[in-house]
Formats: sequence, C-alpha cells, structure tokens
Amino acid sequence: MSAPSPSRVQAYRASILHFRADPAFDTDSHAWHEDGLLIVEDGRVQAAGDYAQLRHTLAADVPVHDCRGKLIVPGFIDTHVHYPQTDIIASPAPGLLPWLETYTFPAERKFADPGHAREVARFFLDELLRCGTTTAMVYCTVHPESVDAFFAESEARKLRMVAGKIMMDRNCPEFLRDTAEGGARDSEELIRKWHKRGRQLYALTPRFAPTSTEAQLQLTGELARRYPDTFLQTHVAENTDEVAWVKSLFPASRSYLDVYDHYGMLRPRAMFAHCIWLDDHDRARLHETRAAASICPTSNLFLGSGLFDFARADAARVPLALATDVGGGTSFSMLQTMNEVYKVARMGGTYLPALRMFYLATLGNARSMQLEGTIGNFAPGTEADFVVLDPQATPLLKRRTSRANELEELLFALALLGDDRTVAATYSAGRRVHLRAGSEHAEFAS
Ligand code: GUN
Ligand code: ZN
Repeated sequence: MSAPSPSRVQAYRASILHFRADPAFDTDSHAWHEDGLLIVEDGRVQAAGDYAQLRHTLAADVPVHDCRGKLIVPGFIDTHVHYPQTDIIASPAPGLLPWLETYTFPAERKFADPGHAREVARFFLDELLRCGTTTAMVYCTVHPESVDAFFAESEARKLRMVAGKIMMDRNCPEFLRDTAEGGARDSEELIRKWHKRGRQLYALTPRFAPTSTEAQLQLTGELARRYPDTFLQTHVAENTDEVAWVKSLFPASRSYLDVYDHYGMLRPRAMFAHCIWLDDHDRARLHETRAAASICPTSNLFLGSGLFDFARADAARVPLALATDVGGGTSFSMLQTMNEVYKVARMGGTYLPALRMFYLATLGNARSMQLEGTIGNFAPGTEADFVVLDPQATPLLKRRTSRANELEELLFALALLGDDRTVAATYSAGRRVHLRAGSEHAEFAS
C-alpha cells in the first residue's frame, strides 16, 4: 500500500549508512551517521548527515519522521532476476539444463497472455519492494507483451527498473522461439517505446549463447552499438555442461565469454550473470571493457552450478555486482543473498566483510550499471530510493544486534539473519512504496 504523495520536503531521523567507494579498495569508503538525518526534496536526496548538524537547516514546518533505532540505507539493487520465473521459484531439478526444460520454458510460455503477465508483474514488484529492492535488471520473456506489462506496472509505481525482451531463435521450444530479424525488430521497437521513459530503462536480452544463432548475436551487437546507453544482459559460464555445449556450438571461440566479445557485446552497461567458469583472460576483458559480472549465489548453490571466485575477480579488478537470479535463485531478499555470497566466498578462501556486501548491494550494483549519481547512495541530487531496516525485526535479530559492538557486527547480523521481515519500509523517489505489516502505528509510518 502506498502513502499519498508527500509534501515537498521530508526528513528521516535514523542511523544512516551509505557508500562512496568499494571498501575492498578504499579506506574512505562509507559514511556512517549513528544519529543521522536524511532530507528528501521532491523525490531527491537533498542531504544526508548527522542529525545534530543538519536539523538547523530544516524549515520549522518540515516533518521529521522519527526512525531512531532503525537503519536507513539506499534501496537495494538486484542486477539479475527473471520476473516470469516468480511462480517456479524453488522447483527441484538436477542442474540448469533440466531445470530450464522442465519448469522454466513452460512457465515462460504463459506470458503470451498480457493479463497473466500483468498479474505476475504486480506480485513480483510487490515482492521486490517487501524485500527492500528498489531497482532491478529484469528478464521478461520472448513475448514483447511481457515487457509492456512489466514496464507499465513499474511506471505506474514510478520505480526505476531495467528490463528487456528475451531473444532466442534456436535450441528452445518452438512456442518460445523468435527469429534473428524479428527479435531485433521487436527489441528496437521496445527501446523506442520504453528506454528512458520516466524511470524505465531498456536492456537488450539475448538469453544465452546456446539459444541464439550467430545471426541473432550479430544483430544484438549492432543494436548495442546503435543504442550505447541501453543495457545488455545475458548469462555466461554458469555450469560446466553449458560451457561444454557452447564449445561445441562455437568451436572457433577462445572461450564462452569470447563468443559475446566477438559480437561486440562487452561494453559498459553489459551485465553477465554467473561468471563462474571464466579464465584470467576473460576476467581481463571484463575489466578492460567495463562489462560487469553479476554474482548469483543462491542460484549457483541451488542448481549446483559452482562457486564464484572472488580472489581472481578482485585481482583482475572485474566490475562486480550481486543478484538473486530468481527463479534459479531461492530468495528475493538481497539480505539473504548476502548471507549466501558470504559463504560462497568463504568456500573459496575469501573473507567478505558485511560492509562490502552492503556496498555491493547498493552503490556497487549502481556502479556496475553505470548508474552512480542516479541511484545507489545518498549523494545530493540522487533519487531518494531508500530502505528502513529494523535490527529488532525478529526475536533472534533483536538479541544478536543488541550485543553488536561495532558497525561491522551490526551489518553482519543483518546480512546473515535478515530477510524481508527486516525491511520495515521501502521508499522510491521519496514515496513510501512498502510498509511492513505490523508497522502501521510506528512513528515513521505517519
Ligand atoms: N541460462 C539460460 N537461461 C537461464 C535462466 O533462465 N536461468 C539461469 N539461472 N540460467 C540460465
Ligand atoms: Zn538468470
């Protein structure tokens, strides 16, 4: 349920955390205001800082929402998620390829029906907002109607979303197949219709190399050059069976990533999901081209795909992003995604501080999409997308966070124990778009 449009200036008093750099590479990475104030004007951040310093700047009639005891962070960003797979989350299968055949393709078939697409888009966006996710990079299906339905619902809520029509013209059921020319034509029409309309942004979306002919990849690369500020999203090197399949389909390519490189698809605003079975040459190409690797831990563990190698990725300075990959992923919550990525990193010998996980889910993801300055932190002028987290949301969280001795311990408990219950409220462009059930009478709900 949304609140009515707020008056021009609103202020929120809470603990405030946001980032200016990656804590792995910069000692001055974040701003932490234990008793902080976030001031929002016309849907944008006007200031974020210490309450004691900023309260004097407020006019007497500006409402100050008292959220003391809560933590305000920028809205979470999910850099890889499939809205048409909402209904098949947690469907059992022995690996990626059987999972696609058994569950995914039949579920995606239903999106030829705009009514079904709209109903799922509504549920999906409600779920994102319940989890504190205010921006996502979203796969629709091969049907242009599925994109219209998604953007129409996102636009009605004034959310900043990135989405695109899947292109696939081979190795998939007939009922989900487009053609190289038809897929490119539909994509171009959708770019003209939706890209930069309000807060909506378009992503070229070839599903993955095995389901596109060379002609389709060629046309995708041409569109990527013709519309350089669109996004591009696909999957790469997720699973060893898939990697072997790509090798047999593209024998001339040096590697799986090289297939995309050959067609000019590595560029800023390109998002490559999984990136598990890469080599150092691939990693160097991601760094050079500023294309990003989207890490999907709950999906990779669920489908048994493999463990993302943080040490090698960081050594090559690969632009990193974090994502749920629902329905291969098993949770919409970026907090639960942090919980799992922490363990994936541990298995590979890397220690991921909670501070870095919160960075990745906010500014890191914004940077990986070249959206810093628009979303991802509380720099003045950025869009006021933010989340109010409740460290006392459950009895266990309350008990653990009451014993937290420093910021890192508090964030770590939120990441490891938190989920949708931890999100007391979510705001998009200064408007409240989610209020946790049971919080209606909280002071900040007014
Ligand atoms: N590779 C190709 N399509 C998909 C998909 O829908 N989900 C995942 N996880 N991997 C894919
Ligand atoms: Zn995916």
